[in-house]
Amino acid sequence: MAKEDFLDKTFTAPQDRCRQTTELILRYVDAQRSLRVLDLGCGTGRQLFDLAKALPQAHLIGIDIAEMNIQRAKEYARGQSAEERLTFEVADYLHFEAKPFDLIVSDSTLQNIDAPKATLFAKINSDLVPEGKLVVTIPYACAYNHILWSLRRAFRLLRSPLTDSILLAVAKVLHGRRYDEPALRERIHYMYLLPHLYDCQALRQLLEASWGLDLVGEHDVSHESLAQPKHRMLIMQKEAGV
Ligand SMILES: C[S@@+](CC[C@H](N)C(=O)[O-])C[C@H]1O[C@@H](n2cnc3c(N)ncnc32)[C@H](O)[C@@H]1O
Repeated sequence: MAKEDFLDKTFTAPQDRCRQTTELILRYVDAQRSLRVLDLGCGTGRQLFDLAKALPQAHLIGIDIAEMNIQRAKEYARGQSAEERLTFEVADYLHFEAKPFDLIVSDSTLQNIDAPKATLFAKINSDLVPEGKLVVTIPYACAYNHILWSLRRAFRLLRSPLTDSILLAVAKVLHGRRYDEPALRERIHYMYLLPHLYDCQALRQLLEASWGLDLVGEHDVSHESLAQPKHRMLIMQKEAGV
């Protein structure tokens, strides 16, 4: 999908998933430090709000290519106790410029960025301080995901308002108790997406060899829907002298 496909959409992560992510992140960072944190592809900001509570000294920036997401995030931020420490900005990450970060978090976003891996990870690397951490949740290579992506490839050719309605109807049956209709609608266009990258041995080796991004942890992420690829959270640390 081209980046234009994201522009008029919102995406809100489930609260329990954000909590889980925050708890895992707390194992890898010193919560009392004044960290600079970036949420790359922050959606409507839920992850960052949760992190702001857990990291009371941190300054947190959320960026997203979709203006609607950032508008929504700014509305939610208003009046929160951490408001002063939170910044939201509409930006295509590939053109985003800021001082380097101690922590970059990116949930289910990197695989959607249509850029060569070398461009994307060189930028991530330059946006991290030495020993900075990248916490990234992406799909991984496995039979389930490859079958799902083959189905999506076929389904993309047939996409129409009718296929969207069918997907929505199925999603209501499967997930109607957990997600309301707007949340399910937000997810429809992801049902047609193919990843630009996924976790595999080759990617890990490339990250370490080319950019000194060493894997320091990995965690399973709960698989919430049959229509969603299986994801994994990777914790990478930039080498000290890079
Ligand atoms: C699956 S959503 C995940 C949102 C959020 N991280 C979460 O877990 O709820 C992917 C997000 O990445 C954003 N996005 C896609 N390409 C982007 C880019 N090049 N720069 C910044 N954000 C981007 C989309 O607008 C969307 O909000």
